[in-house]
Amino acid sequence: MSQKIPSAGAAQALPGHPFVAYHGTSLQVESVSLSQLAAEHGTPLFVYSKASMLAALGAYQRGFAGRHAQICYAMKANSSLGVLQVFAAAGCGFDIVSGGELERVLAAGGDAAKIIFSGVGKTRAEMRQALQAGIGCFNVESEAELDVLSQVAESLGLRAPVSIRVNPNVDPKTHPYISTGLKDNKFGVAHEDTLRIYQHAASLKGLQVVGIDCHIGSQITEATPYLDAMDRVLDLVASIEAAGMALAHIDFGGGLGINYNNDAPPAADALWAQLLRKLDERGYGQKKLMIEPGRSLVGNAGVCVTEVLYVKPGEHKNFCIIDAAMNDLPRPAMYQAFHAIVPLLAESAATPEARYDVVGPICESGDWIGRDRSLAVKAGDQLAVLSAGAYCMSMSSNYNTRGRAVELLVDGAKVHVIRERESAADQMRLERLVTL
Ligand code: LLP
Repeated sequence: MSQKIPSAGAAQALPGHPFVAYHGTSLQVESVSLSQLAAEHGTPLFVYSKASMLAALGAYQRGFAGRHAQICYAMKANSSLGVLQVFAAAGCGFDIVSGGELERVLAAGGDAAKIIFSGVGKTRAEMRQALQAGIGCFNVESEAELDVLSQVAESLGLRAPVSIRVNPNVDPKTHPYISTGLKDNKFGVAHEDTLRIYQHAASLKGLQVVGIDCHIGSQITEATPYLDAMDRVLDLVASIEAAGMALAHIDFGGGLGINYNNDAPPAADALWAQLLRKLDERGYGQKKLMIEPGRSLVGNAGVCVTEVLYVKPGEHKNFCIIDAAMNDLPRPAMYQAFHAIVPLLAESAATPEARYDVVGPICESGDWIGRDRSLAVKAGDQLAVLSAGAYCMSMSSNYNTRGRAVELLVDGAKVHVIRERESAADQMRLERLVTL
């Protein structure tokens, strides 16, 4: 892919990134120059735009105008406290998948009553912690989990609000690792077992059935799988309610994709206009709706700034070795995912353009960030890896004893450090030397 460098003049936002734009030859997030941030904070560096997150949230809010709806940010996409604060202040709830995520929401000032707890493997301790915090709902994924949750709630003299995650068996047409609504996935309960499992849940003293839930996958770029899943879920709602169990809410999960590489997912408001039409037609327009978007709220709000360490020409391939790696940006190594890579400074100097594999310093051939990219680069240049707001920092690791990067939140011309660079001492803090 060749990177088009704009000429000096009007700001030109990057595709899919409304708040990341070249102003003249310099790449900015909102009103802040990324080169300046790199000079001040070093690289690798994650920079997030608050306006971009709020704009993405705004599309969902517009879509739900006039409806009884709760947007629960799926924080696994990016669980940094500063990011959570933005969504908590905007009135969002949170979709969590661990006791650790619960502690983060509470630390960021989130409202426990607006938390839903998803995941196939909640422990008793996590259930207890969430019940004591007073979360809004447990999205239960198996019959065995219902029994354990009921016991834990009873032991605390409480009733756990539950929704059962159903597996609608629709193909979301995305990467197999991020499809979750197919029969062979570990998630949810099978469509044909749903009614019986609801009856079982209703018979348990420690539970209060409040809803139904589904989530079919991630990075979904078409409306059809959602429409099909909604039909299947509404069929189940009809049979559950006909059996005398009222459902106060329907949770349609997350999964809406973003533009990584000429992807064209529907806008959240346009998608929901279609889904709400179906809901109305089928007579469920008055039900409370919940959704759990992650990537679509933060993915294109973030970039990762990195420096070119070396350019290494080869007989068959040229390598552009950067200071960010698979520990910072694991998606290419894990899913062969594409992230666009653009220069911070559109220089006029005549660095020749060549094709490169953009790779990190980690000792693994899988440590690549971009393959076969056209770039005009030399050592010391800085690049931005785009669409890095979701599933990058939250999936980062310390492999090769690399410290996690700095994270900044940009708000107009203001810059907040939301995470400092992790040192080797930070990484070794919980380790103990032995006496040999
Ligand atoms: N709800 C549930 C129950 C989920 O499992 C997920 C994501 C979401 C909501 C949020 O989905 P989103 O709106 O972000 O698509 N690491 C992978 C993505 C894994 C998604 C896991 N579940 C990636 O980097 O592409």
